[in-house]
Formats: sequence, C-alpha cells, structure tokens
Amino acid sequence: MPDDWLRGLWPLFSPLRRAKPQTAHQISLVLKTKGIALTNRATATVFLNTERRIGEISPLIFGGLAEHMGRCIYEGIYDPASPLADKRGFRSDVLKALKDINYRILRYPGGNFVSGHRWQDGTGPRSERPRRRDLAWRSVETNQFGLHEFMEFAQELGALPMWAVNLGTGSIQDAADLVEYLNLPVGTSFSDLRAKNGQKKPYGVQYFCLGNEMDGPWQLGHLDAVGYADKAREAAKLMKLMDPEIKLVACGSSNTDIATYPEWDRTVLERMGDEIEYFSMHAYAGNRTDDTDSFLASSLHFEDHANTIAAAIRIAKAKNRSKHDVYLSWDEWNVWYKTEGDDGNWQEAPHLIEEVFNLEDALVVAQWLSTFLRKADIIKIACIAQIVNVIAPIMTKEDALFKQTTFYPLMLFSNHAAGHSLDLLVQAPVHDTKMYGGAAQLDASASFDPETGRGALFLVNRSQTQSLDVTLKWEDVAPEGFTQGWQMSGHDPKAHNSFEQPDEVTAHEIELPALEGPQTTLSLPPLSFTVLLSRHAPA
Ligand code: AHR
Repeated sequence: MPDDWLRGLWPLFSPLRRAKPQTAHQISLVLKTKGIALTNRATATVFLNTERRIGEISPLIFGGLAEHMGRCIYEGIYDPASPLADKRGFRSDVLKALKDINYRILRYPGGNFVSGHRWQDGTGPRSERPRRRDLAWRSVETNQFGLHEFMEFAQELGALPMWAVNLGTGSIQDAADLVEYLNLPVGTSFSDLRAKNGQKKPYGVQYFCLGNEMDGPWQLGHLDAVGYADKAREAAKLMKLMDPEIKLVACGSSNTDIATYPEWDRTVLERMGDEIEYFSMHAYAGNRTDDTDSFLASSLHFEDHANTIAAAIRIAKAKNRSKHDVYLSWDEWNVWYKTEGDDGNWQEAPHLIEEVFNLEDALVVAQWLSTFLRKADIIKIACIAQIVNVIAPIMTKEDALFKQTTFYPLMLFSNHAAGHSLDLLVQAPVHDTKMYGGAAQLDASASFDPETGRGALFLVNRSQTQSLDVTLKWEDVAPEGFTQGWQMSGHDPKAHNSFEQPDEVTAHEIELPALEGPQTTLSLPPLSFTVLLSRHAPA
C-alpha cells in the first residue's frame, strides 16, 4: 500500500492521535493497536518441485546446548529439591518438554564453561566431587551433575552426545584421556575407571568439539588462529588415535563482528581442515535498535554468514589440494540481546541471561531453522543455545515451567522437517530494511521425504502490517492433500509468555486449505509463522 494513500487517511483517525506517525507502517501499527484493521494484503507465489532438492536434511540440525551456566543444568535439567524431580533428580516436566522438541544431539558441557572444565570432576561418588570456582561465569560449580548423569540424560532424550573438550586450560592429553574414558573397552586406566564408576560398556560417543570459541579474548586460555589450529590438530591426532571412529568439530569464529572474522576461519581450515569432519559457527541475533523490520529480515544475515564459511571451507580445500569434505556445525545459535551478564557473583546456579522471548524473536528463530533447511547441503549439525533457562525455549521455577514463544517453531521444525530440503522458487514483494536492504516479505523453506511421501512447508510473513496471500504451486506432482497445519501470529511483536500467562503466544492448528489442481492459496497474517504438512502418494 503506498505511503501517501495511507497518510491521506490519517486525519480521519485524528482522535486516536498522540504523536503523529510518519510512515504508513507506523500508522498501520497505531490503528492495529486500536483494533482497526485495514485491508492491506499482498500476494506471493511459491513454486515447489519435489525433484528439485538442495540436500538431505540431517536430523542433527535439531540439537541443543546444555551448558553448566546459570540455571541450565542446576534448577533446569537437574533439580533434586523440586517436587517434579524423578528419582535421579531430573526434572520430569523438563524431560517431557525436551522430548516434545525432539532434540537429536546435545552439546555439553559448554560453551565458555568448558574452557576451564576438568572432566574428571564430574565422575565418581557425588560426595567426593570437588566444588570449584567456574571462572567463565564467575559461579560455583558443585559437580553434582557430571559426565555419567549427562550421558543418562541424553540417552533418556534419545539425543546423541556432543562432547566439547577443554582446549583452553586443558591439555591435548586431557582430551585424549576423555576419549579413553568414554569410548574404550575396559582394560586401560581410564576405561577401567569408567567401569568402576558404574559404566562397564563404552559409551561410544561419536561427536567431539575441539574447544569452544577459542577466537574470543574472553575465552579462558584464548589462542590466536595459528596457536589454536596447531593445538586442535594435535588434540585431534591423539583423540583419533584413541578412537578412530570419532568425528571432530573445530572452532570457527564466535561471531561475525569480531575483528578476526573470517580470517580466523580461513587460517584454521587451512592449517587443520583435513583432520576434522565439521567446522563450527556461532551467532546470536538481536533487535538491539528496536528496528523490527530489519530484525525480521535476519535470515539474510544468517545465509550470508553460512555462505562465507562455506566459501572458506572450499578455499582451504582447494589450497590444500584436498579431497576431504568438511561440513558446518552451527552449534550455537539463537536470539539473545535483552539480557547481559557473565557475573554469577560466585553463587551456585545464579540467574544468568534468562531472556524472555517474544513473537518477533520466534519469527527469527523460524527463519534460522529455515536457513538450516535452505543450506541442508552444507549444514549438518546445529544446536540452539541453550536448552533450559539460559536463553532457552523452556523456563523453570521450582514447581513449574513455561514454554517460550521460541519453543513452537523449534518443535514444529524438529518434528516435521525430514527427508530432503526442496529448492523453492519464491516470488514475493520486496521491502527495504535499514540493516539488510531489500528483503522478500516471505521467508520460506520446505522438506519432502520420498520414502514416506510427507512434505512440510515453513512460511514466515515478515510484514508487521500486511497479510500475504500465498499461492503454492507444485510443478511436478501435487500432493494428495494436506494433513495438518499450525500458525503463530499476533498484533504485538513484543507479546510473550510467562508463568502467569503461559499461552499468550503459541502455535495453534489451522483449517487446511483445499487443493485446486496442483495449487492452493494460503493466507498468512502479518507477523506470522505457518507450517503446512502435505501427503504425497507413495512413489
Ligand atoms: O550460550 C552462552 C555463551 O555464548 C556460550 O557459553 C558461549 O560459547 C557463547 O559466547
């Protein structure tokens, strides 16, 4: 809708006026808060072809970080004092909500925490485990939840463990000893110790991270790119000698603002890319200037970031004349900008970065997950940071939890995106944003599983004011029909859930559209995320 047209209407609504809005967008927002809806629609078309595929979707993109930070582990996962704790001290309500999300991989024990962590502290009888200062979060770590507890917890969730080893204060020998403890059959010192501590059978952990954010000056034992690459390469050598089956993730840049990005990535990949299977990306998005239009275009930045690191991988591979493939592990991602603080004041389980997420945050999380699908050929692991209480989709107090807005896109993607990611052709209006220039009003991704005939479509209408009528056109074979659909939307981008109002923003089931030949039309309200499941005839 042209700005002039809407500005011309504004005097009609002058009784509503406090400060005169300047743009059509501001006028629409004011009218919306007064319950006045303008017919303000745009159209878009999405062309789908079940044979036009980007890559196989790795289930491991639905992962999470469980860090010893704040109240993620203590009072989150493990809380023996809670009336909701099971006999192991695990919160049964948290387990249920985590199972609903359906995490396939869990990164542990950090995050920054790992760079000062001694893995042996979390083994053996609980009464003998040391209390220590956690220097990363200025907290006290009791070690009452440790290695064996985490393995049991991950197993209960059906998630693969991804162990981060300490390459900050830790030695390459410590890293190799951890692999021995976790993965070797009894008969050596550390594997025998594991058996003594109650686990005779090797755990067979496959995924290990070679440190955490070692590019960051805040990291305990921070190194420059050359120093890190050389230490990580030697750690990799020892760890793989201990167990050749393991898969390793090296540290990429901790964010795109850091001065060493992307030179860090190129240097590390060139010096040790042949020793790893995955290379990590970390990023946190935020609406720091309250510019919602730009924030809602965040996936442009996510794709740019992934493209840059994918390019660094290719350059290193070419430079080294290597045949070895490295994939991306986006093992810390989320929205995080409202809370700050790394000072736990030397308390146990302090309240750290307990961010409350709103509707616009959930729409960005949905775009992040769509980015993983659109980059399914290269992104094979991803972990939302974190899983409980600390910038997390689930918040707990002693006897209850609530699900944040971000819970819903994560759960819907994790349970329904499967098979292959489809290469969609999207035609949608493009709007200008301050941070990213032109952004299509529609952010879309889709999956299709030829074995089951199931399809899933994930759509975000980025506009704050304009509905979008989206026509879906199947270019090859149309589905037999739709099986289920959900939508989250609202007028207020800042709407959020709380213990008092846990269902302020959720995903609700929608009426399914009718197929007309190979196409259908779906209406997406402003500020919305929609999921539509389809069923194709089995091949
Ligand atoms: O997830 C919170 C922290 O953010 C992690 O510990 C660290 O790796 C990142 O900087």
